[in-house]
Amino acid sequence: MRESKIHPINVVALCGSLRQGSTTHAALIIALKGAEEAGASVELLDLSNYELIFYGAVDEKSDYPPDVIKLKQKVTEAHGVLLGSPEYHGSFSGVIKNALDLMGSEEFQNKVVGLIGVSGGRMGAGNALSMLRIVCSSLRAWVVPNDVSIARASEAFDENGHLNDPELEMRIRKIGRQVAEYATVMNSDKKANQ
Ligand SMILES: Cc1cc2nc3c(=O)[nH]c(=O)nc-3n(C[C@H](O)[C@H](O)[C@H](O)COP(=O)(O)O)c2cc1C
Repeated sequence: MRESKIHPINVVALCGSLRQGSTTHAALIIALKGAEEAGASVELLDLSNYELIFYGAVDEKSDYPPDVIKLKQKVTEAHGVLLGSPEYHGSFSGVIKNALDLMGSEEFQNKVVGLIGVSGGRMGAGNALSMLRIVCSSLRAWVVPNDVSIARASEAFDENGHLNDPELEMRIRKIGRQVAEYATVMNSDKKANQ
């Protein structure tokens, strides 16, 4: 981690829920702490603060609103990305899909990605996670093998944003840590040349 102090690995998180008090957001905060522990600088890109458009609403990329450009830039500059999504009707949310549709392999190629899913029901967010994994492979990203699904999300967190199950919290932290660690490895050649 000595090198990362000179040129820190940067990990960003994208949250697929815009809801105030989102449990996906709370899970991503925990994962980002893990990335920070591994020496990364971190940022949660709260999509509710970005005025995005649906992909296809304008013909030319030059007509993208400033927030689309800003989001693309932030992800381009990141070495690792955490994607969090609620399970919506057996898949991931449209919010995260549209954000990903506005981007592509330009932003994601050779990025290390970690996935976190959250569900209201007891079956967890396995469908959202599997489908996100497929999308990420199409984006040419490197998804870490473990992902975490938080079932019955409305009962899973305490009032301080911690999970009631410490083992689950540790697994989420570990996803963040792994993203930062593998991003460090993947960027070690570039760092040596800087
Ligand atoms: C449109 C919609 C569809 C949903 N579909 C599912 C579902 O298929 N399975 C499930 O377990 N929960 C489902 N839920 C519940 C959400 O996964 C749950 O409320 C989750 O905590 C929302 O994440 P958030 O707290 O980050 O907003 C759905 C909720 C919404 C609003």
